[in-house]
Amino acid sequence: MVSAYEAQPPAQPSAQVLVASNRGPVSYTLGTDGSLDAKRGGGGLVSGLSAIDDKLWVCAALGDGDREAVRRGVGEPGVRMLDIDADVHADAYNGIANSVLWFVHHMLYQTPLEPVFDAEFRRQWASYEAYNRAFAEALAEEAGQGAAVLVQDYHLALVPGMLRELRPDLRIGHFSHTPWAPVDYFRLLPDDIAEQLLHGILGADRAAFLTRRWADAFIGCCTQILGGTGRTRIGVHGLGADADFLRRRAHEADVDERMAALREQTGPGRRTIVRVDRTELSKNIVRGLFAYRALLDERPEWRERVVHVAFAYPSRQDLAVYRDYTAEVRRVADEINAVYGTEGWMPVVLHVKDDFARSLAAYRLADVALVNPIRDGMNLVAKEIPVVSDHGCALVLSREAGAYEELGSDAVVVNPYDVSATAAALHEALTMAEDERAARTERLAAAAVALPPQQWFLDQLDALRRD
Ligand code: G6P
Repeated sequence: MVSAYEAQPPAQPSAQVLVASNRGPVSYTLGTDGSLDAKRGGGGLVSGLSAIDDKLWVCAALGDGDREAVRRGVGEPGVRMLDIDADVHADAYNGIANSVLWFVHHMLYQTPLEPVFDAEFRRQWASYEAYNRAFAEALAEEAGQGAAVLVQDYHLALVPGMLRELRPDLRIGHFSHTPWAPVDYFRLLPDDIAEQLLHGILGADRAAFLTRRWADAFIGCCTQILGGTGRTRIGVHGLGADADFLRRRAHEADVDERMAALREQTGPGRRTIVRVDRTELSKNIVRGLFAYRALLDERPEWRERVVHVAFAYPSRQDLAVYRDYTAEVRRVADEINAVYGTEGWMPVVLHVKDDFARSLAAYRLADVALVNPIRDGMNLVAKEIPVVSDHGCALVLSREAGAYEELGSDAVVVNPYDVSATAAALHEALTMAEDERAARTERLAAAAVALPPQQWFLDQLDALRRD
């Protein structure tokens, strides 16, 4: 609900710990009656930051509600939202961050026709610079002497360098929550842009990543393009699942209700293959459906005995390519249901409306978890399902997910492009002996919670202050 707290600028003008990210911990919607509704977000960064009391989170106003909140001076203690010009933000966020940098790091281009770096790209790049500069200036204004500033992700790759120039006294960290592209792919970018991005991040005292593999890719780019990483230290912090929160939350009444509803949809006694994703191009939901279709086709014994429970929640719907991808997910799911479905059996249960309680319900009843991204920074779903699962679940996991480094030895591992092998992996997971499945789930859950969000954040802060 509306927070009446007046917070522009926020209460601590000289914060000692600052975090900067495009999306903040709260968002506002503007009602038809002019009221503002605040919604708090979740995710690793939000839980991680709860470890620190005295901090300032600098983020961008993302929609009309957020902008109105900034104009009215409505806000949360410890959060400063930047009202960056809407067109500049759209160019920076949709044009550059989501359509170029996300594509580069996840290797998503269909290269015969894209990317095209032309005058329009240069125009959007200027917005990306302006948007990064707005963050650097706000951070420079808010940070106390010698404060620690933790800058998040590809949206803000230029901030460390810009902030360093404005405030040489600060300890600056940058954290990438995505993969980092291998050098040959990173070099798709125009040379000056590639250099600017690397120099931007190298403005930080520490650049950190979710896995060794992404850190090495970054070092590879710096070495080959710039000749080295300079004085910047490189860190690896593999964000884990928040076990206490998840286990508690997964046993609240609304989750039980949704489990009953899901059971009704799948039919009693049937096995479930569960996936829960935002509908990102990198999540590989369509090939997951193809693999499931191949399973039903090649192993008819599974017909009527298994249901693919697929949650594909909306993401970045401003981009046509995301809308088209979402439509393709629906089309393939419908097609499987039309071809294979029978009177009492719907082979694919697809939900596209975000519902966290229902996700947890699916986690609890999963027999098999399917996590097959083309490329993924970590993939927390792979970690959360084993932690929450009621009866143990077999994990089919892409070797291109960051989580593979920690979970690979107890998962059924797949090449995400190999649909036939993924179908075989689903069969293997469905037929895994009970005791083996239980033992693997226990080890997966232990590995998944090795670095809970709060510790993950504190480790970064300690390292930044120490190094
Ligand atoms: C995923 C990535 C993060 C990224 C976020 C942005 O969660 O793992 O690295 O910051 O997407 O999502 P958004 O919805 O804000 O575009």
